Amino acid sequence: MSAPTLNQYLAQAQVSVPLQHLLLQVSVACKSISAAIGKGALAGILGQAGSDNIQGEEQKKLDVISNDIVLAAGVNSGSIAGLASEEMDDIFPLPDGTPLGDYLMLFDPLDGSSNIDVNVSVGTIFSILKKPLTAQSVITTADFLQAGSQQVCAGYAVYGPSTLLVLTLGNGVDCFTLDREIGEFVLTQRGMTIPTDTKEFAINMSNMRFWESPVRRYVDEMVAGKTSVRGKDFNMRWVASMVADVHRILTRGGIFMYPYDLKDPSKAGKLRLMYEANPMSFIVEQAGGASTTGRERILDLQPTGLHQRVPVILGSKNEVDLVTSYHHE
Ligand code: AHG
Ligand code: MN
Ligand code: MN
Ligand code: MN
Repeated sequence: MSAPTLNQYLAQAQVSVPLQHLLLQVSVACKSISAAIGKGALAGILGQAGSDNIQGEEQKKLDVISNDIVLAAGVNSGSIAGLASEEMDDIFPLPDGTPLGDYLMLFDPLDGSSNIDVNVSVGTIFSILKKPLTAQSVITTADFLQAGSQQVCAGYAVYGPSTLLVLTLGNGVDCFTLDREIGEFVLTQRGMTIPTDTKEFAINMSNMRFWESPVRRYVDEMVAGKTSVRGKDFNMRWVASMVADVHRILTRGGIFMYPYDLKDPSKAGKLRLMYEANPMSFIVEQAGGASTTGRERILDLQPTGLHQRVPVILGSKNEVDLVTSYHHE
């Protein structure tokens, strides 16, 4: 029998029908973004949008286009109670007449967008929560501030040589590849697992002078390789698109770090808890890896704001445990 499409897979999975609708709409959004990215300069969609987002970043045209595409997917699914995005200051006011569902979705519409103009892989990350039982008829920001352990689903698309969709429903991690000839995501890998050990690390070394001593010590030892207590040599990779770096780790292991950073102590790092750290941590744990701030499990954090930033250390379990132990010494 041939491999199932996403549609067929969801029909077989233990997933509510509204969540199936939402995930199918998200997959359509990812196909649209993939098509837009594929056209690139031919469609005049590279470069800056001329605006800044709440993160203090200059928005690319494709940040804005992708945001609109994912918002439309959420609204059209009929399954959404609320939407929030890296690219919007506040939660999105659903248009009048939108049928209200039970799910909240938070997303990073275009991850790695600084790579878009140099034709390097970028992606879309999403996190799905249940509307809390305490929610009133008008959804508020507070309804979104649930710990990552409450996620019912998380996923990302990576727009690389192939377009992939990686998904967890809390029962392992499965990977789909976009078959461009039939326009469907087809299941290509069931049960992705992250090897427990690795010899590969990913970190932006230019920030070294801003790191805390546990991360410095850990990276120094890897760089020293065989001559250090580690007794083996390590290789380094840094795509600067979290989706691509995390996808490599899901494929062949590794450790990814965007640690606490003294560059701007108020920010506690670069990555966003709700749009990046939580969904990726859910996926990584479901694949047998680990994810922490260095001090606490990311999925246990009680969020304090939609755009909150957190240190992120994730990937192969034994390496994450080692650098965590350095933080606790
Ligand atoms: P985004 O494009 O959604 O703002 O995210 C960019 C993030 C993440 O994808 C990546 O890991 C990191 O920024 C790269 O940071 P550096 O520019 O410090 O390498
Ligand atoms: Mn951004
Ligand atoms: Mn991002
Ligand atoms: Mn982004």
